Amino acid sequence: VTVAIIAGGVTYERDISIRSAHYVAKALRSVGFKTVTLNPDQTLIDELRKFKPALVWPLMHGGIGEDGSLQGLLEMLKIPFVGSSADSARMASSKPLAKSIVRNAGVATPDSVTMPRALFSQIGAHGLVDLMAQSMHFPLIVKPVDGGSSLGVSRVDSINELRSALVEAFAYSDSALIEKYIVGREITVSLVDTGDGLKALSPVEIDTDTGTYDFEARYSAGRSVFFAPARLTEAENVACVEAAEICGRSLRMRDIARIDLLLDAEGTPWFIDSNVSPGMTEMSLFPQAAKHDSTMPELLKAVVEAKLS
Ligand code: DAL
Repeated sequence: VTVAIIAGGVTYERDISIRSAHYVAKALRSVGFKTVTLNPDQTLIDELRKFKPALVWPLMHGGIGEDGSLQGLLEMLKIPFVGSSADSARMASSKPLAKSIVRNAGVATPDSVTMPRALFSQIGAHGLVDLMAQSMHFPLIVKPVDGGSSLGVSRVDSINELRSALVEAFAYSDSALIEKYIVGREITVSLVDTGDGLKALSPVEIDTDTGTYDFEARYSAGRSVFFAPARLTEAENVACVEAAEICGRSLRMRDIARIDLLLDAEGTPWFIDSNVSPGMTEMSLFPQAAKHDSTMPELLKAVVEAKLS
């Protein structure tokens, strides 16, 4: 059985995607699958025709690999693939949309406003001060409305820092999310379907040397410490698992996903982000979770077999 992994592409997380693909291909080959890794370029359809994979694994991160575009192409070509449908990927990869959906499903998520670049250009810095004074209090988190790996994310402690944080976020997206800062522990819950629905693996807790799980802390050795399983009370564990499973279900995510949460001192998990194509590098969070629950090759094999059955 051949699994075609699609990786790379023109996104800010291209290099991470290539590392993820390498990790997944090696794991799948170790449990008996053939793999081929394809580029999402003009040759893609010809290559899919040539290799005739039983299954495609879209392993791009950010941009068109996670926002439903690649998934839509595969749906149009009627090629089965691992992961969320185009429709679900569109919802899950837009932070404002995902936040409104999970909030309606009963999961807490920090209050936020969305600032399109065009509106920011119109109202300018003075307009921004007025707008913020009416609606939000510092500290805030400013981030691109889509994309991942914490690229373009800033903590903002005063109005003076807001403008540059927005400009930084606009480097990655046409709109920025200005979100209330939540004091809490970073907990991430990987979700996986091995044949009986999307279920949570053990939550993983992330601690970093600076307290910020930014791009450098994610991918530089020694900058982050992972606790897998997370250091949670039974009640906190249940709350995080339940919140993540509700998020996955309400966003109609499929096969494999990851939900990022902040757990506050009262034990409330706050939804921060949903990942359609969770990172699969040796330093990524999904493999950390799987190390505790099962070995990665066996787990990925179970996902593929469930898809093919
Ligand atoms: N967006 C990166 C790949 C992650 O969440 O793991």
